[in-house]
Amino acid sequence: MTADPSFKVYSNLKKTTSEEEREQLLENPGFGKIFSDHMAMIRWSEKKGWHDAKITIRQPFQLDPASAVFHYAQEIFEGLKAYRGKNKCILLFRPEENASRFAHSAMRMAMPIIPKTLFIQAIEELVKIDNKWIPEGEEKSLYLRPFMFANEAFLGVRPAKQYIFSVIASPVGTYFRGNGESMILWVEEYLSRAIPGGTATAKCGGNYAASLEAQALAYKNGCDQVVFLDVKEHRWVEEIGGMNIFFVLKDGSLITPPLNGSILHGVTRSSILTLAKDAGLKTKECAYSFEEWKKDSATGCLKEVFACGTAAVITSISQVRHESGEFTIGDGKIGPIAQQLRGKLIGIQRGMIHDPYGWVHTLQL
Ligand code: COI
Repeated sequence: MTADPSFKVYSNLKKTTSEEEREQLLENPGFGKIFSDHMAMIRWSEKKGWHDAKITIRQPFQLDPASAVFHYAQEIFEGLKAYRGKNKCILLFRPEENASRFAHSAMRMAMPIIPKTLFIQAIEELVKIDNKWIPEGEEKSLYLRPFMFANEAFLGVRPAKQYIFSVIASPVGTYFRGNGESMILWVEEYLSRAIPGGTATAKCGGNYAASLEAQALAYKNGCDQVVFLDVKEHRWVEEIGGMNIFFVLKDGSLITPPLNGSILHGVTRSSILTLAKDAGLKTKECAYSFEEWKKDSATGCLKEVFACGTAAVITSISQVRHESGEFTIGDGKIGPIAQQLRGKLIGIQRGMIHDPYGWVHTLQL
């Protein structure tokens, strides 16, 4: 097995996007629709280990139709953002956390573990070469998507012996339609997303595929996102399709479902818990039922609910719909606690306020 490979940067390749076209695209990027000019790519094989690390022009993969990923879904991914800082700096938010979770996901999916340094280097090289794709503006950033999949052409069911790790970059605005300030949630009382002991804590494409029928139901019912309940009793609130959830009670305390084996360990979730504690708020990682949610909303005990994640940052939930009714949270607007935490989080991520936690990873151009 070789040591970590060094990166080849094929920067002599022709840029595909003109400055004028790029500026136009960056004006209103939406989410995940436009992409930067380059990509990072590293191969892994049983014989060579990690090898052939490079930055190339962004292009389609050439894959054998028998590649294991198409048949047995050996695939994992991450999401993080790059921001433009002062003095020609680029800021990444907690990339080490993404590297650790990627390693956890790889282990669960019987895939090779990419060293943290190589994972971060791939991101850094891509961000450096595509730094002009980091949009300016309060709600904008460059969303980075590291991912890995099995590309061995073999139809037997066993861990593949060949993989591709890659990173692509997409300039983004808010994840949700409208102003991205609030959304409507659909509570899914029958379909499940992932199970403890299954792949629930791995960030693998399969978990997201399993959430899509319920997500389609959410859209059908005029909602933005779906929230799942626990698999066993369909009683306890767990996770929104692609993000975690927080409840804010009248006394200012925060509740979020515990990491009980069926919830993804969100980087934004853990950052919010830290920020809230340090702001003197009471936080509880504990089970919260759909029944309590309805009751606390009706009595006025529940003041705010918000979703959090890399893509969503902190997005308030204004309304909740379910099979037998609907209810509004607070006054249906972004609440003061969500607003306060969002301001603090965004401020740190963008280098506008001091980062006492060492979360921000700075890259000098
Ligand atoms: C993220 O917030 O990065 C996610 O993974 C959510 C979604 C876009 C899949």
